[in-house]
Amino acid sequence: MPKRIFVANWKMQLSFNQANAFVQDHYKEFVNLTQDNTIVLCPSFPSLHNLAMQFKQSGIHIGAQNVSRHPSGAYTGQVSAQSLHEIGCSYCIIGHSDNRIYDHDTNIDIVHKLKELLKQHITPIICVGENKAQHDTQQHFEALQDQLMPNLEAIADSNHPIGLYIIAYEPIWAIGTDNTPTIQSLSSVFSWLHNQCSQKTRVPFALLYGGSVHQNNAADILKVSHVDGLLIGRSSVHFDTFKTICNTV
Ligand code: PGA
Repeated sequence: MPKRIFVANWKMQLSFNQANAFVQDHYKEFVNLTQDNTIVLCPSFPSLHNLAMQFKQSGIHIGAQNVSRHPSGAYTGQVSAQSLHEIGCSYCIIGHSDNRIYDHDTNIDIVHKLKELLKQHITPIICVGENKAQHDTQQHFEALQDQLMPNLEAIADSNHPIGLYIIAYEPIWAIGTDNTPTIQSLSSVFSWLHNQCSQKTRVPFALLYGGSVHQNNAADILKVSHVDGLLIGRSSVHFDTFKTICNTV
């Protein structure tokens, strides 16, 4: 059975010093989690290099929370996929609703980012998910189709070898709210995602759920067919909670 994937999205919750202290305090325990799981830690940009060095060859993977849609050039404040690759970052989140909402990232921007990551052999973690209004009017499949398809087409057409791509289903109304979809709704979304990804692409993929994951709901979510792991926000900055989630059987 492939290892389950747990992505810790620290967002901007931990400062540079706080991220360092968090890792220092739990270094061995983080590494122990990799015996049974694939663990990806996603700190904010300034911590990436440091953590990539500290966890080099430890089994822990380091991921960025975003990337520029451009390869290089006069883009003040942006970070290229090449830089991420050079500092040892092997995963990157794109299309997170925080970026779709606050930075106005469009589906087109996200496909450009995806292509930049594929060029650098960085595993993309592509977030998709409906908003509250779409959820309330049962339009989640339309919303998902709209966000997912351009990415699947880019993956199918890519000339770069792709070891793995990850789709994270993150309903926007579930993020940071303590609300989660019903198990029945997750089952139908994940079987739809699985069908779309296997029909449209011929490369390995994994499907994650994200949005208000905590230690009391992780087990039920992980039992849903085609859920290969979790993308965890708030619960990932408390080590004991994160560990309990990763050790869920
Ligand atoms: P949350 O965030 O677990 O705090 O809801 C998840 C995410 O936004 O990736």
